[in-house]
Amino acid sequence: LNFQPTVFVTSAADIRQLPSDDGVEIAFAGRSNAGKSSALNTLTRQRNLARTSKTPGRTQLINVFEVLPGKRLIDLPGYGYAKVPIAVKEKWQQALSEYLQKRESLRGLVLLMDIRHPFRDVDQELLHWATDSEIPVLVLLTKADKLKPGPRKSTLLKAREAVLVFGGDVTVEMFSSLSKLGLPQVEAKLTEWLVQ
Ligand code: GTP
Ligand code: MG
Repeated sequence: LNFQPTVFVTSAADIRQLPSDDGVEIAFAGRSNAGKSSALNTLTRQRNLARTSKTPGRTQLINVFEVLPGKRLIDLPGYGYAKVPIAVKEKWQQALSEYLQKRESLRGLVLLMDIRHPFRDVDQELLHWATDSEIPVLVLLTKADKLKPGPRKSTLLKAREAVLVFGGDVTVEMFSSLSKLGLPQVEAKLTEWLVQ
């Protein structure tokens, strides 16, 4: 599948504002600043499709992109950012959990975790939730360029061990938006999920 023609469709504050729940959808989730928006831009070869920022908490809405009619990519609000006011935080966490629980067209979850601190609490919760709901998961260890090849490889192997306890369909790959490491693997998995 060619991801380059992907276009922005809409931003939604909650799931009622999303496009109708048909076709196939893949969601990008992860802690704030994990690199979700950057990964979307890398995948689609577009510099500014999804807005990125050095400041965590940039993506506060559910952003919807369309690869082809009925084939969508979703940039979800990041979680775990301490400095956001509690009321705002609760609003997006609610939008996030509602989306994950109710969206029929959700066919795969890309869970992004910074390779330097993977498997934090909420990451594990999401993994539990997805595997329990039989949603396949692609775990991406992001910013892999921040580690040397040795530690990178050992983190990957440890992560592949760690996901076994969740059961279910979980794949782990390294990823870097900077070096494009892991991009072919991401393209292959997303194509598999979207073309069915
Ligand atoms: P929220 O929208 O706040 O949830 O963040 P996000 O997960 O969308 O992260 P975003 O893509 O905005 O990236 C956060 C920061 O990490 C930015 O400063 C990016 O430039 C940087 N970043 C993202 N991917 C990589 C990567 O592969 N390597 C390096 N070195 N930096 C990256
Ligand atoms: Mg973002």
